[in-house]
Amino acid sequence: MKLIIAGATSLLGTEIVRQSLQIREITQVISLALQPVQLDKSIDTSKLKNVVIRDYSEYPDDVKAEFAGADACIWTVAVTPLHTGRVELKRVCQDYIKLGFEAICEAGPARPFRFMYLSVEGIPRDPTKIPVIMPDYHIMRCNTELMVLKFPTEKDGVEVCIARPGVIANSSAWSRALVANLFRIVNLFGRPPSEYTTESARSGSVTPGHGWVREGDTLECRTRSNWTKGAEISQYASAFMNYF
Ligand SMILES: NC(=O)c1ccc[n+]([C@@H]2O[C@H](COP(=O)([O-])OP(=O)(O)OC[C@H]3O[C@@H](n4cnc5c(N)ncnc54)[C@H](OP(=O)(O)O)[C@@H]3O)[C@@H](O)[C@H]2O)c1
Repeated sequence: MKLIIAGATSLLGTEIVRQSLQIREITQVISLALQPVQLDKSIDTSKLKNVVIRDYSEYPDDVKAEFAGADACIWTVAVTPLHTGRVELKRVCQDYIKLGFEAICEAGPARPFRFMYLSVEGIPRDPTKIPVIMPDYHIMRCNTELMVLKFPTEKDGVEVCIARPGVIANSSAWSRALVANLFRIVNLFGRPPSEYTTESARSGSVTPGHGWVREGDTLECRTRSNWTKGAEISQYASAFMNYF
């Protein structure tokens, strides 16, 4: 399997690259980012190709050539309202996905081509259900999910999945831990509860394992991930592979 990881320098992207390199079925990992992904020197990077772009809205021919024949893409590029303004938020969290997806399709991926979009646990699927806190941001991400879910109707042989990780509470940098904990509080008070129920999990959903449960086109992370001791984040790539 040839796997593109977009936003490979992100917290999750880098971890997914690292894990993907250790999965035998993944034969090629394309790290798509604004800089080369930084990995520990002990890691075997023979399957890794760093593809560095200037902007997620521009894909020159040499970049598209690297996408050719790809079996899957995991899209992790996003930004939070704490880091930027409304226009930039939509550009990074929504417009880039559409442009990146189209560039991959133009490059001639394998069929089926599987596109996984990393959203966030608790994003409403119904844009009329307005969350109390950061409503614009959550509705924008809801609309992004709905946009991605339409991709299979626009291109033949495309399958999509929305993965919704929980907050990664204990990340490596203090600023990240601060933001993560802020989001934990926001999630407690500001959002409708996840639509997932234990009952629906029992009735016909598939379990890719490692804390993830599949509900149709959505993978929900059942527990809040924890960078330092959470089994589920250390198994993200395996769980996603089980989905693919
Ligand atoms: N971290 C969490 O706790 C958490 C929890 C649930 C869901 N998620 C979701 O999982 C995905 C990945 O999260 P993450 O925390 O790993 O992300 P992250 O570390 O914040 O990185 C986000 C990625 O987006 C890129 N990016 C951010 N702003 C940009 C801009 N203005 N222009 C171009 N690129 C930009 C970053 O590029 P650079 O590396 O070059 O800066 C990076 O590749 C996101 O969809 C996020 O919402 C995260």
